[in-house]
Amino acid sequence: TQTWTILGLESSCDDTSAAILRMDPRNCPEILALVTEGQEALHADFGGVVPEIAARAHAEKLDLCVSDALTVAGLGVDAVDGIAVTAGPGLIGGVISGVMCAKGLAIGAGKPLVGVNHLAGHALSPQLEDNVPFPYLMLLVSGGHCQFLIVHGPDRFTRLGGTIDDAPGEAFDKTARLLALPQPGGPQVEEAAKSGDPVRFAFPRPLLDRPGCDMSFSGLKTALLRTRDATMTERGGLTRTDRADLCAGFQAAMCDVLAEKTRRALAECTKRGIALSALAVAGGVAANKSIRAALEGVAAKSDTRFVAPPLRYCTDNAAMIAYAGGLLLMDGQRDGMDLSARPRWPL
Ligand code: KG4
Ligand code: ZN
Repeated sequence: TQTWTILGLESSCDDTSAAILRMDPRNCPEILALVTEGQEALHADFGGVVPEIAARAHAEKLDLCVSDALTVAGLGVDAVDGIAVTAGPGLIGGVISGVMCAKGLAIGAGKPLVGVNHLAGHALSPQLEDNVPFPYLMLLVSGGHCQFLIVHGPDRFTRLGGTIDDAPGEAFDKTARLLALPQPGGPQVEEAAKSGDPVRFAFPRPLLDRPGCDMSFSGLKTALLRTRDATMTERGGLTRTDRADLCAGFQAAMCDVLAEKTRRALAECTKRGIALSALAVAGGVAANKSIRAALEGVAAKSDTRFVAPPLRYCTDNAAMIAYAGGLLLMDGQRDGMDLSARPRWPL
């Protein structure tokens, strides 16, 4: 086939998503449908994603998302040329739900199937709407991940470094929890930081004294807890201003660390003689305007194009999975009915 119509499924965390893409090897894909069902409301009372609740919700919603996506695209499943599904890494229950659903569809309709690494999906997301040739540098920053990847091709990645403990999104969420702000914390902390003073409280810049691109964010979380408690003891509580200043200080530290490590990752590519087409970001934390601006500044300083996909492709979604899987399918890769869910699956 010259053009491939790909159905993609994503269910590795707390978003159930189905997408239909029309792909031809020469152009950006055409996104015919993207239907995503978040689970925020289901987990709201628990202060985090509850795996059992997530798995059940995925199992219930996957079929609906698929049929909605087909309706939006105006297609029957017979018009699909291949099925791509997140096979890991992620919460095992959700990944299994997705893989089972994809297998059922593949068998029922007699279509080829391919399992996609969720991180590869994020890494390839800049190409959904933009012409971003390989190789490019990807900074993936989400609630579960933080790493630098040189993206050489659909299944060729070099990891330059990443977090040795928490992911930035996790740190934002924890910060929100410590300050009694709602979840998910990232947007709340960003909003509060707008009116805050970023230098009133001193936050550490972990691992900047060490060479390389590895990062650490658990110390920021601890610093926030300590500063919060000290401020509360001193003043008998937290004012709105205290909260804003804490958020601003935390976010400034996060920006500094990500910016400096990105500078080093770009330098490392230059050292290795890799001519990058761009610096790209993906993952939910890439929604943060201060972080985006900091990274954009780093890219500009090194004369590198900066690409940030629209938010709907930055956060977990099935379009990136359909796209990554479509590239593999067009390359002749197939998985059988023995495709298994891999909760841990490094790139
Ligand atoms: O990529 P994503 O939707 O899910 C995965 O983790 O895979 O990312 C969600 C994370 C959450 O931790 C959320 O707090 C964070 O991204 N986030 C933000 C912002 N919007 C979402 N963090 C900082 N600033 C934001 N504006
Ligand atoms: Zn993700």
